[in-house]
Amino acid sequence: MADISLDTQMGNFKFTNPILNAAGVRDADSTQLNTIINSWAGGVVTKSATMKPREGNPEPRMKGLPHGCINSMGLPNHGIDYYLDYAIKNEGKNNKQVILSIAGLSIDENIQLLKKIQDSDYQGLVEMNLSCPNIDGETQIAYDFDSVEAILNQAFEFFTKPLGIKLPPYLDFYQFDSIAKVLNKYPITYVNAINTIGNGLVVNPETEQTLIKPKGGFGGISGEYIKPTALANVRALRLRLNPEIKIIGTGGIHTGEDVFEHILCGADAVQIGTYFGFDDTPVFEKVTKELLAIMARKGYTSLDDFRGKLKVLD
Ligand code: SIN
Repeated sequence: MADISLDTQMGNFKFTNPILNAAGVRDADSTQLNTIINSWAGGVVTKSATMKPREGNPEPRMKGLPHGCINSMGLPNHGIDYYLDYAIKNEGKNNKQVILSIAGLSIDENIQLLKKIQDSDYQGLVEMNLSCPNIDGETQIAYDFDSVEAILNQAFEFFTKPLGIKLPPYLDFYQFDSIAKVLNKYPITYVNAINTIGNGLVVNPETEQTLIKPKGGFGGISGEYIKPTALANVRALRLRLNPEIKIIGTGGIHTGEDVFEHILCGADAVQIGTYFGFDDTPVFEKVTKELLAIMARKGYTSLDDFRGKLKVLD
């Protein structure tokens, strides 16, 4: 399989493997981040940072399910200074890109975070998470298209570094059309589709209780449950976004076939969250080898051979 290339490009950044970790799983500190860099993952994504360190929501705040997970972590993180320092020191290490994830709790906080990054020596990719569903009392910013426009308007007045946006799952063609219309106005490097499906509820019928404590048991659903929604978002956005805006597909990936399907729908790269949580770094090697085997069987030698080439029934 030596003649198969997994190279992919986002803006000026080349990845030799499109399979990355998703923000929020096993990526909260430098030890965990180094473990990812030293694995088969094609790059490393940091835990979404806020301006100040946060403890996050009360426990239990995450539970594994038969086909995925429910979580309401509430953005526990060490604060932007910690992750920015890590990103500056590790950008390009092992020939891998760092993606610095940020998640301000308001429009203003996102702008402050971007200003800090703009004023720093960091030159790598930034992923602005506008879709965390787990902050009590806050709505997911990217469900409000005017707010997304307000942030991007302000951001691109000063921000000159490569910016990706992590989106929530959209469920309606009106939403696909509306978000694409906003995003197409700006020089965004990529979008990441999707975050968890927010505010699901999982019940234990024996104890008659919710599985997690925060927000009365409501939490983001991930894993296999969300793959069809993730694929739909990747596909719908690829059909609507300017070709310069790349797409990272996230949701339900735990086999090479899942990656293949995301790329067929138009993803340039993918991220693994839930199954990285379950299986740790071996998941990157397993999934990469499975993808290579599928490409070999089909005679594909690069991702371009099938990216976005999903066939629809006549
Ligand atoms: C969390 O920390 O609550 C998860 C992050 C996210 O869903 O964006």
